[in-house]
Amino acid sequence: MVTKVKRRRFDCLVLGAGGAGLRAALQLAQDEARVAVVSKVFPTRSHTVAAQGGVNAALGNVLPDSWHWHMYDTVKGGDYLGDQDAIEYLCRAARRLVIELEHYGVPFSRLDDGRIYQRRFGGQSQNFGGAQAARTCAAADRTGHAILHALYQQNMRAKTHFFDEYFAIDLLRDADGHTLGALVLEMETGELLVIEAKATLIATGGAGRMYRTSTNALINTGDGLGMALRAGIPLQDMEFIQFHPTGLAGLGVLITEGARGEGGYLVNGEGERFMERYAPHARDLASRDVVSRAIHEEVQAGRGCGPRRDYVELKLQHLGDEIIRKRLPGIRETTLRFAHIDPATASIPVYPTAHYIMGGIPTNRLGQVVAPARHGPEEPQPGLYAVGECACVSVHGANRLGGNSLLDIIVFGRAAGNQILAELKGERYHRPLPEGVIEEAVARVRRWDRDGPESVEAVGRDLRATMERFCGVFRTQAVLDEGVRRILEIRERLARAGLTDRSRVFNTARIEALELENLVEVALATVSCAAARTESRGAHSRVDFPKRDDAHWLRHSLYFRAGRTVDYKPVRTRPLTVEPFPPEQRVY
Ligand code: FUM
Repeated sequence: MVTKVKRRRFDCLVLGAGGAGLRAALQLAQDEARVAVVSKVFPTRSHTVAAQGGVNAALGNVLPDSWHWHMYDTVKGGDYLGDQDAIEYLCRAARRLVIELEHYGVPFSRLDDGRIYQRRFGGQSQNFGGAQAARTCAAADRTGHAILHALYQQNMRAKTHFFDEYFAIDLLRDADGHTLGALVLEMETGELLVIEAKATLIATGGAGRMYRTSTNALINTGDGLGMALRAGIPLQDMEFIQFHPTGLAGLGVLITEGARGEGGYLVNGEGERFMERYAPHARDLASRDVVSRAIHEEVQAGRGCGPRRDYVELKLQHLGDEIIRKRLPGIRETTLRFAHIDPATASIPVYPTAHYIMGGIPTNRLGQVVAPARHGPEEPQPGLYAVGECACVSVHGANRLGGNSLLDIIVFGRAAGNQILAELKGERYHRPLPEGVIEEAVARVRRWDRDGPESVEAVGRDLRATMERFCGVFRTQAVLDEGVRRILEIRERLARAGLTDRSRVFNTARIEALELENLVEVALATVSCAAARTESRGAHSRVDFPKRDDAHWLRHSLYFRAGRTVDYKPVRTRPLTVEPFPPEQRVY
């Protein structure tokens, strides 16, 4: 039986209303393209709202700076796995696009002379590895919130069309591989809708919810990544998961790196500033992978804090109440609410927590999804784009620097918008959408009209615990292989799981099941790529292969869902206009 599904048509469909999706939508709508943005939450609740510390741009307002130093830090921070052409593009564009944000109404914190306030963040240097830089433009510790609201307001003004609280099920593609839109589900009513578009942009964010403790919102379930995999598109560099050094211990709630940027520091259970041993030069402002490993090692060595010695402490007391209230008001609120701690008078218990995926859907710097067939040449996929955390350009390489993700979303959101506008000029008509394609996507939803031997919730709990235990900060072959085996088992359990009659009444249960399907596929990609990479680089730390191995592993991984195979492609080491930064020993 053919299901009748309502249809709408737009020039461009944007899946996701975080900063990346909204920046792209704005570029399109300002040029009078008809843009639909689909979001499973009200747009200003998207995860960009949770970004705290700031956005990097070499404005030089506080200390001398240059985009070229920023580029060096980003290449080194990513442990030389980032594509240097894209990184040059990112760092060069930063200044203009941050000023543009200011003009859009982002209320940045100010210096006494009225210029944008910039704070110190991890991995930043002057003069190619010299003294600490101050490159992160901040709106107190609510920078993502400020940017997201400004972009939403600008989109309202530009008449972007929003589908709020709609969940994207799958991409709709024809036999030639053209993406023609997506099937979406209205969450309140359960009604399905086909949105046809000449261009579709995936901007659905990360998948941090595959881990038990995470800084990520509950909505970060890798929906776009799952969609891409099901469409036959590989995911790139998925083994590189960033653990933020300072999640609130036990809970994972983000305590911004900006707290250390303002002068906060970490101590172990013996009251020692242990980062001096791990990174003598940068200390608490070494890159995140380095600080997370150091905390983990301190705890493993029995030098943690608290009755179980299972966390370290972040000290802010010496900053004083006034600076804390002015520069870190959100952190003060968070620690008061979740830990009953006033950071002006007591230390904050912290531990590394899953934060960001460096990998994602492979794109070029125009936002076009560039997917090779296995062993085939890489080609732009017609009509399909991706930006933000779900994409891998790759500017973050094996480890992202703090403050570069807000930059990534505005730079590549805008670039993708411009590329789509250019391509729309040659696309006057919508291509016909084959009926069978819709049926297939509808079947994915209908599959959940069933009972099963166990609940989706139980399977989800096991997935998160498994990822934490078998794909964490430190990894070995045996642990990762066991992780793959267990996630495969979890995938089988999910295929048999069901919703009770009672839970089917509410679409939320159905949506949680669809989200978990996405998370399981992303987890499998992550642990499979981690098991295959036998070196340590950036956030991927192999105890059994402790060294970086450029001779064999200076290459991107590509995970294909069909057959669960991992292939590789070269890193783009040639920048656009400057000399390359060759791999060097990475010390902080
Ligand atoms: O620590 C933070 O404020 C997080 C920033 C980021 O991930 O870029």
